[in-house]
Amino acid sequence: MCQRSGRRIRGVAVWGRGKRVKSVFSLPPLQMGERNPEMGFRMTVNYDENQHIMTGPISNTSPEKYTHGHHASVVSAHAVRRASEAAAFVLPQLKSPMRILDFGCGPGTITVDLAEHVLPDGSVLGIDSSETVIDQARATAVEKGISNVEFGVRSIYDTGYASESFDAAYAHQVLQHLSEPVRALVEAKRVLKPGGICAVREVDWGTTAFWPQDDRLSKFLDVYYRVAERNGGDAHAGRRLKHWYVDAGFSDLVVTTSTWTFSDDAGLNWWGEQWAERVLRSDLAKRAVEYGIATEAELGEISQGWLDWIEASGAFLMFSQVEVVGTKA
Ligand SMILES: C[S@@+](CC[C@H](N)C(=O)[O-])C[C@H]1O[C@@H](n2cnc3c(N)ncnc32)[C@H](O)[C@@H]1O
Repeated sequence: MCQRSGRRIRGVAVWGRGKRVKSVFSLPPLQMGERNPEMGFRMTVNYDENQHIMTGPISNTSPEKYTHGHHASVVSAHAVRRASEAAAFVLPQLKSPMRILDFGCGPGTITVDLAEHVLPDGSVLGIDSSETVIDQARATAVEKGISNVEFGVRSIYDTGYASESFDAAYAHQVLQHLSEPVRALVEAKRVLKPGGICAVREVDWGTTAFWPQDDRLSKFLDVYYRVAERNGGDAHAGRRLKHWYVDAGFSDLVVTTSTWTFSDDAGLNWWGEQWAERVLRSDLAKRAVEYGIATEAELGEISQGWLDWIEASGAFLMFSQVEVVGTKA
């Protein structure tokens, strides 16, 4: 039972798997998906105004975990990304002699492209919490002979850079993995000079459409949503990105969208084969089993589902990317 008391919601929630668990709670009013700052869990329950009850699971937070991890099947898929596609929405605004921060840069292929883009006098710093991918990023820069780029193992939440020291900040497919995306944007804003821009692109997995219909691929999406949420992230980040920018206090928001489409043979093979492997070997698979979201046998079926999808008549998949450029006033 719940009742609204002033601006708070008070009551008793009953949830749990197998064994029912009861908890007395008192919450500030939250929108679905918002994090409760006091208790640290996301609002994934529905509040029924008529019946005064909370329905659905309350997901307890665990410390933030990066859903994909850094298995070779993941990092190799990220390493094909190029700024010409991943940063197309902001490239015209990035010029020499800008100093740019790429936060959550992963294996750094986009970062190195950005550095080349701002030659001769611009420079780029790529940061990531994983030493493995930072090593790979450094090797890519050396291999391509790009020297106006540096990489460091740092946290997005606390980069350690001086305030007002960058002209632009950029992140690709990162905020969706954070339990505190607004805090990351606030840190990006701190290190930007007044008038500096922050450009972020996030997928919204909830926009995924595929053909032919296959319960194994529907199951994949369900597993992915649930593991991402349990890890503290948000598989529907795209639709919330503008909202996060507003909360972080950026001005002059420019919001665009683009799509990823897999339909020709090369695209079907690349997408289907990587997920057939990732769903068995990456951290997504480990966590799905650990959290009791899927069994190894179910992951095996999903993997085979991706391989069958590649061969299916009329196979197709698409989803939307949301891109926001905001300015520090
Ligand atoms: C999906 S990958 C994207 C990599 C790259 N931006 C790209 O699009 O290819 C997300 C990256 O964010 C990094 N990351 C996640 N949480 C982080 C944090 N709190 N601080 C720094 N990096 C983080 C991960 O290690 C991972 O390399």
